[in-house]
Amino acid sequence: MKILIIGGHGTIGKKVAFSFTKENEVIIAGRTKGDVLVDISDSDSIQNMFKAIGKLDAIICIAGEAKWADFNELSEEDYYIGIKSKLMGQINLVRIGQKYLNSDGSITLSTGILADDPVIKTASAAMVNGGIHSFVKAVALETQNDFRLNVVSSGVVEDAYEKYKEYFPGHNPIPMNKVVNGYLRSVLGKGNGEIIRIYQ
Ligand SMILES: NC(=O)c1ccc[n+]([C@@H]2O[C@H](COP(=O)([O-])OP(=O)(O)OC[C@H]3O[C@@H](n4cnc5c(N)ncnc54)[C@H](OP(=O)(O)O)[C@@H]3O)[C@@H](O)[C@H]2O)c1
Repeated sequence: MKILIIGGHGTIGKKVAFSFTKENEVIIAGRTKGDVLVDISDSDSIQNMFKAIGKLDAIICIAGEAKWADFNELSEEDYYIGIKSKLMGQINLVRIGQKYLNSDGSITLSTGILADDPVIKTASAAMVNGGIHSFVKAVALETQNDFRLNVVSSGVVEDAYEKYKEYFPGHNPIPMNKVVNGYLRSVLGKGNGEIIRIYQ
């Protein structure tokens, strides 16, 4: 398979990319480094990326940001960071990317545990994740004959636990192999419209 991984050099992305490279052709996209550069918050940039790459069997996005801050400190502009990057960035990847999929192709997005179990400072990040879950379920109703669309929603992963642990008291860090399995299940399985939750 020819697989595009946006964010494939990131903490989660590099482990996912490694697991696919043995048996597939993997193309890594990132904002500052990768086989191809893209800024998912800019739909022209997404369009240019797909034009440059051509047809694919699977698109995986493990990228996208949102501003973390206390609810009373989040400005309207702060919310637009997550809306433009993690929310519309991933929505635009689906809108545009579907046209570049071979038959039986799939798209896998990324959210996180905040959608179901938010912690402080995540009014924006949790909202964006929840929006993507609803988007995936709704789109899959209409596109089941065209391509599969799923989202992997993980808890804080082991490789990022030090950075985030103060925000997630009592949460179990998710072993990297379990997160990777979520992406394998989405790409290699037959599921459609699934929210693949990896919270333990
Ligand atoms: N870490 C966790 O525990 C965890 C748990 C659940 C969900 N998630 C979600 O999973 C995703 C990846 O997390 P991570 O910890 O692997 O993050 P990370 O280490 O910061 O890596 C993010 C990757 O995405 C790329 N990227 C970021 N913004 C981009 C943009 N606008 N356009 C194109 N590429 C962009 C980065 O490229 P550059 O470095 O070149 O900018 C980098 O390769 C995030 O959306 C995060 O919210 C993370």
